[in-house]
Amino acid sequence: MISQKSILEIIETAKIEDIVGDFVALKKRGVNLIGLCPFHNEKSPSFNVNPTRNIFKCFGCGKGGDSVNFLMEHESLSYPDALRYIADKYKIEIEETKPSAEQQASMLEGESLFIINQYASKFYTDQLFQTDIGKSVGLSYFKQRGFREETIHKFNLGFSSAERDGFTRKAVKDGYNIELLRKVGLTTANDNDFFRNRVIFPIHSLSGKFAAFAGRILTSEASGPKYLNSPESEIYNKSKTLYGLFHAKQAIRKHDECMLVEGYTDVISLHQGGIENVVASSGTSLTVDQIRLIKRYTQNVLIIYDGDLAGIKAALRGIELIVEQDANVKIVLLPDRHDPDSFFKEKGHTQFLEFIQANKKDFLLFRLDLASREIAGDPIKKTAFIREIVQTLAKIPDSIKRSVYVKETALQLDIDERIIIGETNKLLVKSISEKKNNELPSSKSKEDDLLADDGTAIYPEQKPAPQNHLVQEKDLVRVLIKFGDKIFEEETSLTVANYIVNNIQDVLENFDSKLYHQIITESMSRLQSNEPLNPDYFLKHTNEDIRQEAIEVFTEPFTYSDNWKKPLQTQKLPDENFKNDSIRVVRMLKYRKFARVCSEMKNKLKEGQPGIEEETKFIKMNMKLQELKAEMGETLNIVVFD
Ligand code: CTP
Ligand code: MN
Repeated sequence: MISQKSILEIIETAKIEDIVGDFVALKKRGVNLIGLCPFHNEKSPSFNVNPTRNIFKCFGCGKGGDSVNFLMEHESLSYPDALRYIADKYKIEIEETKPSAEQQASMLEGESLFIINQYASKFYTDQLFQTDIGKSVGLSYFKQRGFREETIHKFNLGFSSAERDGFTRKAVKDGYNIELLRKVGLTTANDNDFFRNRVIFPIHSLSGKFAAFAGRILTSEASGPKYLNSPESEIYNKSKTLYGLFHAKQAIRKHDECMLVEGYTDVISLHQGGIENVVASSGTSLTVDQIRLIKRYTQNVLIIYDGDLAGIKAALRGIELIVEQDANVKIVLLPDRHDPDSFFKEKGHTQFLEFIQANKKDFLLFRLDLASREIAGDPIKKTAFIREIVQTLAKIPDSIKRSVYVKETALQLDIDERIIIGETNKLLVKSISEKKNNELPSSKSKEDDLLADDGTAIYPEQKPAPQNHLVQEKDLVRVLIKFGDKIFEEETSLTVANYIVNNIQDVLENFDSKLYHQIITESMSRLQSNEPLNPDYFLKHTNEDIRQEAIEVFTEPFTYSDNWKKPLQTQKLPDENFKNDSIRVVRMLKYRKFARVCSEMKNKLKEGQPGIEEETKFIKMNMKLQELKAEMGETLNIVVFD
């Protein structure tokens, strides 16, 4: 265990630009550094490093944090391993405290299981290459399947004989704990060997350790399932594993594409044939965790499945998940009765790739194609299918991409685009309001829900949706976090935070974002109790969302919401311009809020018979709005719009 003192020393010594700089090419941009984000694919840099605050933030994918966070994410290190990495880099001596017996036991167990599997793998490869039965049965099986010896070595393939407990006895004799052998699944509860009379495919962890095994039956007459897999254990979680990823990850990065097949032998065959960016879901349907694994290396997924009905179904099952994770999905179906392994053997490298190039289809077009054959002339089926595809469309996170697909769907199915848009919107509204149902109860109108997560209108050409105010609220909070402790007015030593908080009281209840509302109210009570409200307070906040917001503020490149762009070009850099900035964000937000309340009131008045009280309220509010409008127009020279 690393002592608290060492942890502090390590964190304080680590320089974010050094740590990140070892993995990402960084260029100077003002006081910050920028580069291409290592966590998602991009062509222009949105990955920011802020040396002053010692943090990084990507504006493309949203990842952000300190040096330790970076290493944990980028190198898949545990927290202590990330600390050790930094200590090693800066030659900091680590003070270790003794872990409790309990901590020690759980720490050692994971390691021990890997060590046992390492031993087992060696046992199975020795059996394959050095015993007569291994050579005559196991090795000849692999050879007959066309696997070369270097391939067999590379994937650490092995063999287990039919003996009842040959492995277990030897392992125990060599000092391995029988409890742990059972735990990792190599030995059964009756102390027999788990894998008997099978060829062995080890399943590697991301870093190449042996996490589990699969054993394939040798003859069709033998009893039992075709593949036997290690049970789940502390070191093996099936739904978080992709077979072959350890061997494929570099090639996936290089080609910026991951091929996804079903079986172990498909991965090995393609690899041997020089196609290395391939992994297998191991016969089960894809999981979100598996997709996240792929997305560490690429956004582009190419599913290659058998052309039979089962293959098609399997392919479709994975798709929505991938779409939801915002990856680009293409599909190839192989000719019937072929899997990638057999097809590659028949066609060879060039023809295999040519076939894939020629036949890969975008997931949606694939689905449309498949369906249009089935639903031709059957309106009931067609209706059902439209409902189904709309579900998928609504899951596309990127609104531009979504609208392109909507158009395509309408075209292919020959129905009015507006119907698809309407149905998709219904689902979107539903999922957004589900997501936001613990947000502030606000005067939000229904149409505000027609906004994508990034605040853009979903279908502006269809319906000029009144905007919500997330952008303006964010701007306000940005100024508060960044400049809150600066002096706004010398004579009174009023700070920027004082100014902002004092001036937005009358719209506080109309905030759309729960988070921003929380930041403001918290700041208010800190100011009242004379506690400091400086960047550090936000950057070290215990609420992760607030901390991320602060990190974003301090790493942000020079960006403003569109409304600001024009006037700013002729003004000083915003960092020296915080007073004007404060005035602007407050006014802009208030203007929006007033305008929205006014239009809501107006609608209400139109509907019912207004009482004199209501009418007065409306008139007053409208006056406030007009005043503000005039004030803004004069002093800020910005375009005010309704
Ligand atoms: N699978 C499994 N258990 C089974 C059958 C299949 O775990 N009883 C998984 C394996 O990961 C297998 C994948 O599903 O690799 C695909 O199954 P299949 O196509 O039958 O196996 P292949 O790997 O193609 O094996 P082979 O080429 O030897 O038929
Ligand atoms: Mn096969």
